[in-house]
Amino acid sequence: MSILKLTKLGHPVLARRAAPIADATDPVIQRLIADMIETLDDAGGVGLAAPQVHQALRLFIYRVPEHRAGGTPEDQARSLSVVINPEIIETSAEMADDWEGCLSIPGLTGKVRRPARIVLRGQDETGAYFTRPATGFHARVIQHEADHLDGIVYLARLADPRALGFNEEISRHRPAIEELL
Ligand code: NI
Repeated sequence: MSILKLTKLGHPVLARRAAPIADATDPVIQRLIADMIETLDDAGGVGLAAPQVHQALRLFIYRVPEHRAGGTPEDQARSLSVVINPEIIETSAEMADDWEGCLSIPGLTGKVRRPARIVLRGQDETGAYFTRPATGFHARVIQHEADHLDGIVYLARLADPRALGFNEEISRHRPAIEELL
C-alpha cells in the first residue's frame, strides 16, 4: 500500500464529474481503496474521495468518529465505510448548518448548509449494493464526499458568504462569528 498525494483546490480533477466504476472487484480498484484508506489515516481526516487522490472515479471512503456521532441509529460511529457509485436517493427538506473542512482546502473551515437527512444508495468494496439512511454528522460527511464526485467543494454551499475562515481564527472567534451569521 502507499500514501497517495492529495490534490488541492484548483486542480481540474476536483472540478470534474467523476466516472462510474464498472467492477468494484477489479484489482486496480481494490488497490486504490487500500491506498485511499492508508492516505486518509495518514492525513487524519474523516473522508476522502477518489478525485482528491487524482482519480476521477466515483468512489469515496469515510468514517464517523465517536465524538462526532449523534448516537441515533442513522448517526452512529463508524470506523470506515467504502462507497462506490453513490447516489443520494432522498434528501430532507429540513436543512442543517455545521462547520466543515476539506483535505483539498487545507487551513480553512466553513459553515455549510445541507439537508439534515439523506438516504444513500451505493456499492461496498465487494460490489454489493446497499441503501443507508443518514442524519447528523453522518449525513454531512456523505454529502461532502459525494459532492467531490460531481466536481463540487463545500465552498459552493456555505450557509453565508462570511461563514469561512482560517481554522485558528474560527476556533478562536467562533461564538462571535456565529452571532454575525
Ligand atoms: Ni473534501
